[in-house]
Amino acid sequence: MGNDREILNEIPKHVAIIMDGNGRWAKQRGMPRIMGHQKGVDTIREIVRTASDQGVRYLTLYAFSKENWNRPKDEVGFLMNLLSQYLDLEIKELRKNRVRFNVIGRIEDLPGQIQEKIRKTVEDTKNEPGLLLTLALSYSSRVEMIDAIKKLCEKVVRNELNYSEINEDCVSRALYTANLPDPDLLIRTSGEMRVSNFLLWQISYAEIYVSPKFWPDFTKEDFLEALKDYQRRERRFGRTERCKSV
Ligand code: FPP
Repeated sequence: MGNDREILNEIPKHVAIIMDGNGRWAKQRGMPRIMGHQKGVDTIREIVRTASDQGVRYLTLYAFSKENWNRPKDEVGFLMNLLSQYLDLEIKELRKNRVRFNVIGRIEDLPGQIQEKIRKTVEDTKNEPGLLLTLALSYSSRVEMIDAIKKLCEKVVRNELNYSEINEDCVSRALYTANLPDPDLLIRTSGEMRVSNFLLWQISYAEIYVSPKFWPDFTKEDFLEALKDYQRRERRFGRTERCKSV
């Protein structure tokens, strides 16, 4: 481990987070699950601000999976309302922090008025020079890969691409995350050791950090601890020598 100065020099460029444990946080307190989601939004605000202050360039949050549509109707409705409110209320805070807003996933599955608010938030923040915040909504990594395969097949059929030229770069550019570098660090809260269909292609070489805390309890200090843990790791990308010296 290096000194603090070295630590500050190695901020991961892209951090992705699986925000888990909202329901259990609420249950622990004898509250309905939705209260955990409500509190989870406060954590999002704090972590976006912290990531931005620390110089993280890309932050990608797993906010709603394709599988989440199978939750009870009232919970899905509550999550959609929260998202709608988030888009209405956070714009000021995003701009104050110079954050550019982005989404990935099957956005067409979301209610029309939310799609419109997303479009507006993306437009209103498109010139912000700071952190790129990406919310994964109605997202499934396997569906993303199927969509990418279809896109590449279409190009082959139209003779715009020869199938023998398909390589990792082509696939990366066909994914929803075409404009993002791969995550350097994947954080998951609530102690679960799973990747839950999140950015499966993109996290090939990501460092994984699991926090035992439920998402609503995850603080700025916990996020900084995850960054410090990342900075202590030696990333080799399958090689033997220390990658940073190459
Ligand atoms: C997982 O907790 C959490 C989610 C469903 C995604 C995160 C959602 C939020 C933080 C709130 C809404 C987000 C926005 C952007 C408005 P869980 O319900 O799976 O918890 P459990 O595993 O304890 O049941």
